[in-house]
Amino acid sequence: MAVAIKIIIADDVQEMRDMIEKMLMTSDLDYEIVGFCANGAEVVDLMQKKKADIILMDINMPVMNGLEATQTICEKYPQVRVIIMSVQQESEYLKKAMLAGAKAYIMKPVDIDELVDTIKTTYERYQFLDTAAPVKAPQTHHAQVISFFSAKGGVGKSMIALNSALLMHDKLGKKVMLVDLDLQFGDIALMVNKQNELTIKEMFDDSPIKTMEDVQPYIHSYKSGVDMLFAPKDPESAEYISKDQVNEVIELLKKHYDIIIIDTGVNYDEVTLNALDHSDRVIIVTNLEVTGLKNTKLSLRVMQSLNYDHQKVKILVNMTNDKFGVTKANVQKAFNYDVIGYLPEDIKLVRNATNTGIPLAQVKNASLIKPLLTICQTLIK
Ligand SMILES: Nc1ncnc2c1ncn2[C@@H]1O[C@H](COP(=O)(O)OP(=O)(O)OP(=O)(O)O)[C@@H](O)[C@H]1O
Ligand SMILES: [Mg+2]
Repeated sequence: MAVAIKIIIADDVQEMRDMIEKMLMTSDLDYEIVGFCANGAEVVDLMQKKKADIILMDINMPVMNGLEATQTICEKYPQVRVIIMSVQQESEYLKKAMLAGAKAYIMKPVDIDELVDTIKTTYERYQFLDTAAPVKAPQTHHAQVISFFSAKGGVGKSMIALNSALLMHDKLGKKVMLVDLDLQFGDIALMVNKQNELTIKEMFDDSPIKTMEDVQPYIHSYKSGVDMLFAPKDPESAEYISKDQVNEVIELLKKHYDIIIIDTGVNYDEVTLNALDHSDRVIIVTNLEVTGLKNTKLSLRVMQSLNYDHQKVKILVNMTNDKFGVTKANVQKAFNYDVIGYLPEDIKLVRNATNTGIPLAQVKNASLIKPLLTICQTLIK
């Protein structure tokens, strides 16, 4: 039988504590509230008497603030998962909280779905810390790495990478990591409406990455089974990130996921080329515009010079439209690599998904999803 998750709610504002309690009551979580605290010192006290699995911790509290309490508690009880609740949007605060040992954070005003999802994923992810929990045989993964690349911007690479990640989990049952390796202009965070999260930049800034635990604080759990590493927020950061750093992280991730999807940058810099080298599959995304097709031909020439074979490199044609002169038959003829699929153009649908931050894969009956799922099935065979 599953054990109820023991939760402490710490916030100096009574209404906030009540609201969180109500939110939990309406959720499907199996939980037990072991106490309410109005400041950090109370949490430290309570922890001595009652063991919690999860502490929902406000930052700004009197007597002892949430950051100090987090530090004290995480040193003493490493199995506790502190989830910071904060109005502070500055990544500096969040960074401090994560360095103090917090495992996750949510922004105020608290969204019920985000709250419940964060509690679930944080509890599950750190179950290995819990000596009281039955010891599960360590799961060994050896991820298949799939990169989406294009030599031209704006062809739909990120939209496809994001939705493929979701479909591979939701429909094909894989544990997926999506890495936004478009280090200069990555916009996966924006596409899922999570612009305030920590990114690859902070991960490499903070300390050397040696184990998966060093990577964990920077991973955004989009939902249980789909994790993401976001690209830096500013383009300048890209030049301080080396291919070796990225390779080390990918090697660590490989042991923890079934599939790693990489959304690459639109260039042939060393980080991108290395990601392609480390990929089992490289999917070149193209549209049907003459300039797009020309650039795709040039990319394929590069793939050939890198000795990537026909198993590894595939072409995905996006934004097909019957009104264009270029037909599917013409496309396959133009390339000496296989076209694994075609996705129709649907401006309204895709734009709406991007603007609302709700990916297509989450939208019921979205037209593009069926062909994309077929492509995903082919890819992971
Ligand atoms: N099948 C499609 N139908 C209609 N619009 C699409 C389709 N695919 C992508 N788009 C639109 O094309 C634009 C570019 O998409 P996206 O950002 O995914 O491309 P990208 O190749 O990653 O671009 P960038 O080079 O900027 O990273 C977006 O405005 C998106 O809404
Ligand atoms: Mg992109």
